[in-house]
Amino acid sequence: MPDANNLELLEDLMARQRAIRRFTTEPVDDALVARILRAASRAPSARNVQPWRFIVIRDRETKRQLGAIFDDLGARLYGQGAPDRTPWEEVPVLIAVCSEYAFGEGEAAMAALGASIYPAVQNLLLAAQAAGLGAVLTTRWKSREPQLRPLLGLPETMAVHAIIPLGWPDRAYGKNRRRLVREVTYRERFGEPW
Ligand SMILES: Cc1cc2nc3c(=O)[nH]c(=O)nc-3n(C[C@H](O)[C@H](O)[C@H](O)COP(=O)(O)O)c2cc1C
Repeated sequence: MPDANNLELLEDLMARQRAIRRFTTEPVDDALVARILRAASRAPSARNVQPWRFIVIRDRETKRQLGAIFDDLGARLYGQGAPDRTPWEEVPVLIAVCSEYAFGEGEAAMAALGASIYPAVQNLLLAAQAAGLGAVLTTRWKSREPQLRPLLGLPETMAVHAIIPLGWPDRAYGKNRRRLVREVTYRERFGEPW
């Protein structure tokens, strides 16, 4: 039975889901992290393989080393213009979203793998938002993956897709800004206005 109220709540949650990079020092307990990961795990995946594996990182030194890789790339990419962020060692939790190579090798397998991970990541971001937490999906560190993998203790059989800092936002954030649907939607064939 469709429930217009549910849709409104979900729309509002989605409009307010933002890239939050600055956090207070207030801790985030394991029970809440577990609840968010349960929501993440409700995601669809190809053949329902559920390839996601989460690593919950609280160790300050590990967070610092991961942050150093992230910041070094930020400085190279943006110079002084890198987005302002809480240093990762001070972020309450980092969640690394990893997976088995569940669909084998090759382009199609990699597409299925990514497509089976990012719905879980989006669920995680939305659940965090619903709990009042802030989070941001990061992949910038990807070009340093070989340096990063030992910090996560990852065997060769596993991929890492996202690292998500999670904490209580430093302030209130407004709605996100996105293109209008009519700017990105076509009727029947590409180029035909919606
Ligand atoms: C695939 C992907 C990779 C991203 N990588 C990073 C990243 O490495 N560092 C970062 O600070 N934000 C990263 N972001 C967050 C985006 O910058 C953010 O979602 C976008 O600017 C919209 O921000 P808003 O939701 O606050 O409007 C990434 C987002 C996506 C979807």
